[in-house]
Amino acid sequence: MCGVMIHPYWGIHKLLPLLRQMQEELDVKMEFIDLGGGFDKSSSRTVGTTDLVKVAVRRRLGMRSGLDRWPRKAREILEESRLIASEVKSIPAHTESTCVLEPGRYLVHDTGFLALRIGVVKKVAGQNWIITDGGSCNLVPDFHERREIRIAKRANAQPEEMVNISGPLPNAWDLVRIKKFLPRIRAGDYIVLSNAGAYTLSLSRQFCYPRPAAVLVRPNGKAILIRQKGTGEDVTRMDRLEGLGQLQSRIDRR
Ligand SMILES: Cc1ncc(COP(=O)(O)O)c(C=O)c1O
Repeated sequence: MCGVMIHPYWGIHKLLPLLRQMQEELDVKMEFIDLGGGFDKSSSRTVGTTDLVKVAVRRRLGMRSGLDRWPRKAREILEESRLIASEVKSIPAHTESTCVLEPGRYLVHDTGFLALRIGVVKKVAGQNWIITDGGSCNLVPDFHERREIRIAKRANAQPEEMVNISGPLPNAWDLVRIKKFLPRIRAGDYIVLSNAGAYTLSLSRQFCYPRPAAVLVRPNGKAILIRQKGTGEDVTRMDRLEGLGQLQSRIDRR
């Protein structure tokens, strides 16, 4: 089978010269043209690495991130698919090719929610801090500012205070959100983050905490456990330590 695969999708007009060149120089019939993923819902923005650096610098300087002023560049997948099909068909060698798209986050991004349990609420140097049971191990840093945060069972409560939300790790980078205006939160509450369907569980890191459970909610409201919650034992399950018994007895003798 002969085909071409590209990821992420760059836009058909950037790819057409490449596809034409392949036809001219290789003279092979492409059975498939796979354009990969990288499609986004219209609710989101296309954000590049330079943009993220700018956001980090603006935040350091205590300025607004400026994300809200960025132009929307989301590609509508159906519109784009029609364009791809018509452009690809215009190349004689590719009229019969099957075009494949691999939308990942387009399909699942806004279908997932991450529930984090609040362990500790405290004030440090005049700032409110909320420590949850999940953070950077479960989420890629939330620079995109797309995620809404609601309090479970109090979704309509009015924002009252500015908080910083972090995960359980003793590391400065274990952050969920900085300077978010939220309703008053108590230990034991759950906060729920939207847009957590893509690149959360699949990208999650083991580190020193077990991974969370995943629950599928059917349209009729029925919830089904689709991934079991990790345990402390899972964290060390794969380790094979020689002399563990000796070490254990030395610890016991102390
Ligand atoms: C080969 C391939 N296809 C598709 C995807 C999905 O990308 P996206 O979620 O941006 O649509 C990925 C993500 O890394 C990928 O590596």
